[in-house]
Amino acid sequence: MSTHQTQVVIIGGGPSGLLLSQLLYRKGISSIVLEKHTREHVLGRIRAGVLEHGFVNLMREAGCGERMDREGEIHEGFHIAHQGQLDRIDLAKHTGGETVMVYGQTEVTRDLYDARDAMGGMIIHEAQNVQPHALTETRPHVTWEQNGETKRVECDFIVGADGFHGVSRKSIPAEVLKEYEKVYPFGWLGVLSETPPVAEELIYARHERGFALCSLRSRVLSRYYIQVPLTDRVEDWSDAAFWQELKRRLPQDVAAGLQTGPSIEKSIAPLRSFVAEPMRYGNLFLAGDAAHIVPPTGAKGLNLAASDIHYLYHGFLDHYLNGDSGGLHGYSEKALARVWKAERFSWWMTNLLHRAPEGSETDLRLQRAELDYLFSSEAAQVSLAENYVGLPY
Ligand code: APR
Ligand code: PHB
Repeated sequence: MSTHQTQVVIIGGGPSGLLLSQLLYRKGISSIVLEKHTREHVLGRIRAGVLEHGFVNLMREAGCGERMDREGEIHEGFHIAHQGQLDRIDLAKHTGGETVMVYGQTEVTRDLYDARDAMGGMIIHEAQNVQPHALTETRPHVTWEQNGETKRVECDFIVGADGFHGVSRKSIPAEVLKEYEKVYPFGWLGVLSETPPVAEELIYARHERGFALCSLRSRVLSRYYIQVPLTDRVEDWSDAAFWQELKRRLPQDVAAGLQTGPSIEKSIAPLRSFVAEPMRYGNLFLAGDAAHIVPPTGAKGLNLAASDIHYLYHGFLDHYLNGDSGGLHGYSEKALARVWKAERFSWWMTNLLHRAPEGSETDLRLQRAELDYLFSSEAAQVSLAENYVGLPY
């Protein structure tokens, strides 16, 4: 069995793992990334695309901001459609100038892979049966299988950035790990289409027939979502049926301007709020979807992964460059404090904008009153805006 040596082993070659590997490399800290799928598979995933300013700054610090700054769009606000009208949340006005960047997660991941390649980063794809070991010892190790051979890497620390279904969280003893979960009784049917976006900025729609979202990847690539029952399957929805239902949930003038076309990707995603505590066990640290999931309504999934990576990166810097392990000791508590705030915001946005299947007339009226309050209160809009652009790290 061949054994490698490194400082940090990162399980998972998604945006969290790659961003950490890139940031550490630029500070002379070595890492190896173990990814179970091929690079094409990882890059083939269609995920969200709204980046908080904290994430944007991290990408720039990682030396990966050039294409994002060139091709991404700065958005100073977004709209909420309700009762047939459009109201705007002015993010910049309510946050002293903060904005968000609209730039697809797939592009973020591609830029991180390119940067890792350019610097000779060690990313092992198709690593099967990855298993962390000796988590509470000073020199833990990770094994995996490749081409029928078992391989091993020894390290100081292991980062579990292997998503919700990964092996890392499952490696924490059940008596230590506490999981909190809320599964929503609906999903999002998403369509990607090579059509111009229906609006300059995003539109979140609350409608008696259910939620809808008009988002974008560029001026020629649009992303739309509608709320569907969890029992629905993609094959139940033709493109024509999707466009027709989307139009029904948008104000008439917006629907009139919607350009439709064939879907180049169509999928249904369940909605879940999930948090695992603690985010550290011995020398194993969880980051991103491995530790928490948010419903996509608040666009917080990728951004929460980034704040985890921010705290971990600075924890490792202090440890390796200053001999101070305070940041690593405080990682779980610090990351979870921000995670729960984003979980609250995403849950609140989801309840505000979705039609609860069992919801009563009273629930609908309360939802409308919540929106009426939002658009009649500067304070409420400031609260929404500061959460949407991203709470401080
Ligand atoms: N061994 C190695 N790699 C694994 C394993 C395993 N056992 N299990 C999963 N992986 C890989 C996956 O194939 C994936 O590429 O770990 C990676 C995890 O990446 P993501 O799921 O994208 O999670 P993360 O990097 O934390 O990014 C979070 O992704 O799902 C979105 O909304 C979420 O935007 C958020 C972002
Ligand atoms: C997306 O562009 O895919 C997107 C945008 C905002 C959200 C969720 C998804 O809240």
